[in-house]
Amino acid sequence: MLCTGETRVSDTAVVTGIGELATGRPQPVENSSLEARRPRGALSVLRDAAFVVQDGHVAWVGPAARAPAADTLIDLGGRAVVPGFVDSHAHLVFAGERAAEFEARMTGSPYTAGGIRTTVAATRAADDQRLRANVRSLVAEMARQGTTTVECKTGYGLTVEDEVRAIRIAREECDVATFLGAHVVPTEFSGRGDEYVDLVRGPMLEACAPHADYVDVFCERGAFSEAQSRLILDAAVSRGLPVRLHANQLGRGPGVQLAVEYGAASADHCTYLTDDDVAALARSSTVATLLPGVEFSTRSPYPDARRLIDAGAVVALATDCNPGSCYTSSMPFCIALAVREMRMSPAEALLAATLGGASALGRTDVGHLTVGARADFAVLDAPSYLHLSYRPGVPLVAGTFKRGLLVAEGKAQVKLGE
Ligand code: NIG
Ligand code: FE
Repeated sequence: MLCTGETRVSDTAVVTGIGELATGRPQPVENSSLEARRPRGALSVLRDAAFVVQDGHVAWVGPAARAPAADTLIDLGGRAVVPGFVDSHAHLVFAGERAAEFEARMTGSPYTAGGIRTTVAATRAADDQRLRANVRSLVAEMARQGTTTVECKTGYGLTVEDEVRAIRIAREECDVATFLGAHVVPTEFSGRGDEYVDLVRGPMLEACAPHADYVDVFCERGAFSEAQSRLILDAAVSRGLPVRLHANQLGRGPGVQLAVEYGAASADHCTYLTDDDVAALARSSTVATLLPGVEFSTRSPYPDARRLIDAGAVVALATDCNPGSCYTSSMPFCIALAVREMRMSPAEALLAATLGGASALGRTDVGHLTVGARADFAVLDAPSYLHLSYRPGVPLVAGTFKRGLLVAEGKAQVKLGE
């Protein structure tokens, strides 16, 4: 059997009885190293499929009738399997919550970047143990909903010391760690934004860089201007750190064009785009990461995914899990929103939540289940991946496997290990 926890009792397992196996097929474009790291792809759906897991990776995929022998057999009884979701945008290192702010929004107040400062105060007051426990609990919550790869940003510390502990925790508890010292200008720098930018691009970046996979900037009215964003992006690039941006969330602005100009891995939010922004994304290897939970939770217009896809941009879906603009950890919820509200087909939404997220993180080993991929997958208590959007709000994930090991069970009555 495959088992939970750290122990692995079997090196080879065949997963069979899969009603429907939906897996992205990465399609790297030849002759471009950037494209190869951020592959486009297509969804392929196999019925009555099986696959073999060996040493935590997919070793074989094909019709169940032709499955090779293995040490262990896991029969899923007709359930669907999808690649584990890749949540490429989340802010998990924080303390406290902002339900009252959400209530105010739902009764007419607009979302502004300023609310971030409330969480900064709570985060600074919390000790490492508390912050780490919160991250762990959110990562576990994500796993119960099928997520196997998590990107986590800092951005609620905003002093050198608090950002360093945040990036360390992000690195230790999540798959990808992003330094977001440029989240908002903290209260003590009020009216001195440029001085804060100098702190971020100087000592703060210096201290956080060893632990960071990416540098992010919230380029937006109320956060950081184009000129300030450039200074921080330049500092990241000169250290050889790849960048990503929060761009065009609250209005049109320079964020998306900056992301493309700097070769950012992703431009995230993309809620308000001009035709030029769409064209720039389509021409680039920068992934457009859409976060529909934010529009839901801030009662804002949804980005138009159809426009981006039709133009040829690579699109990812992520939760943006954070205590302010969107406190959901559920990729299935985001998939359902994307299909209902953003003109994405169910196949496009699943692809964006798996291979799209992997592309946004520059990862080729996750987000799909072709031979050689990490055996990260979610078993649905449903016959087809279509149910992710067809049955919104229903906890369909029966079990989540990471590197072939069961890491979370969504429903106690489904015995995946037997
Ligand atoms: O992605 N936009 C900036 N940061 C987060 C919100 C953080 C907060 O409101 O606490 C976001 O929406
Ligand atoms: Fe965000």
